[in-house]
Amino acid sequence: MNDVLERLRLLRAGDAPTHGGRVLSYVYDSGLDELDELADAAARLARPLNGLDPTVFPSIAAMERDVIGFARRMLHGGASVTGTVTSGGTESCLLAVKTARDLWRRSHAEPGAVVRPRLVAPATAHAAFIKAAQLFDLDFDAVPCSADGVVAAADVISRMGDDVALVVVSAPNYPTGALDPITEVAAAASARGISCHVDSCFGGFVLPWWPVPAAWDFRVPGVTSISADLHKFGYAPKGVSVLLQRGRRRHRAQFFATTAWAGYPVVNPTLLGSRSASPLAAAWAITQHLGVDGYRALTESIHRVAQEIREAVERIPGLRVIGDPTGPAIALGADPGVPDSQRVDPHHLADAMVRYGWKIQHQPGLTQSDGVRIAHSAHLTLTPVLERRVTEFVDALAAASGDVRGRAPSDPRALLAALRVLGYGEGGRVPGPSAAWRLLRLAGAGSVSAEQPMATLMALIERLPRPVAEALLTELLARMSEP
Ligand SMILES: Cc1ncc(COP(=O)(O)O)c(C=O)c1O
Repeated sequence: MNDVLERLRLLRAGDAPTHGGRVLSYVYDSGLDELDELADAAARLARPLNGLDPTVFPSIAAMERDVIGFARRMLHGGASVTGTVTSGGTESCLLAVKTARDLWRRSHAEPGAVVRPRLVAPATAHAAFIKAAQLFDLDFDAVPCSADGVVAAADVISRMGDDVALVVVSAPNYPTGALDPITEVAAAASARGISCHVDSCFGGFVLPWWPVPAAWDFRVPGVTSISADLHKFGYAPKGVSVLLQRGRRRHRAQFFATTAWAGYPVVNPTLLGSRSASPLAAAWAITQHLGVDGYRALTESIHRVAQEIREAVERIPGLRVIGDPTGPAIALGADPGVPDSQRVDPHHLADAMVRYGWKIQHQPGLTQSDGVRIAHSAHLTLTPVLERRVTEFVDALAAASGDVRGRAPSDPRALLAALRVLGYGEGGRVPGPSAAWRLLRLAGAGSVSAEQPMATLMALIERLPRPVAEALLTELLARMSEP
């Protein structure tokens, strides 16, 4: 048995560090050791349960009541707001879309007519909504944003029509950290009878204590649902989020219930059937332990980190914070106001930061339907633990910027030309598994690791026809786990 665990320890040694703040995406370290211990103990207590049936395991319903109640208070939902604990942000978003689509179908059912409803969202909305639209058969209508990832309320509102089942706004969005114009959009949606979801998967457990310029939660009339992830700034281990719905009718529309088979009645508010209660138990324990004051203190720490990093970036020539983020996400981009020779390319910067022991996240640029481009950037998720070494971080940022200043962004022109010749250009073929694997190796991306420079691969992804880029990335991920 020890031998098995030793092998797992060895495997884990190859992972990026989950604690200490050196990885500025994916992980959310509060810096409080006791939270990990508490979460482990709670998860272990709940391990044998099956979240499928709270009538058999009423502790599950009790913990859910507490977690949903806590989130509802933080997000200013009144007694009419109820909700569900889900397995994560993507599941919360999927369920918000499914619910809105089902309600839309009920009120727009025309016998014989087949109309695909639309989901309207700024281009900065999380990809989970693209996934939801694909899974639940809606057209995803991306509203173009400014180059800084800011969407104009009027642009979202002008897309609203009878075929729109749901409008999504973010608080804040992940790519640039901007807070969408929630009040204006929700009011317009409400006037037209359209559901309006606020995705605060990222910010839901931070913004309640952050100086936010405008209301963004259930205080805003017209907001019909909100998602908030406990496994992000709720500081719970992965596998837990909440979806709150305004009104029982809406919440009940989220459920799947059937008696039309030979076994036990199946009644699920979530996508899974049998599910672990451990993430719920861990989140329950952490929310009980931290309470409002605990979250406030952790948020204040993140706020100080954000201020310090923003001030430091202002002092680094050629680098800038994109837009004016609200909350714990910051995107760094090259400063277009200085000559090329002075610019800091964010993807070369992200590669260089690895040499200083820090991992910031490459985000490819996005050319939107109106031609406006949101430039490629480096994303930082700021966590409380970073406060301990923020000086070290900003020093590394300055030093790594110095290393790459003036270096032109990666240009995969030769590779792109080769791919075009092979028939994978615009309007061309989409590679199958074997061809995609050959192309990846041709691009030098047959394997990726936390240390490997990513600037070239990202530049390629940005410029390839989308179906080709998606096929390559699918292949890359699929090969990693192939036995
Ligand atoms: C705004 C936003 N929505 C949704 C998600 C999806 O969450 P998850 O990765 O937990 O599925 C994320 C993840 O970063 C996010 O930032």
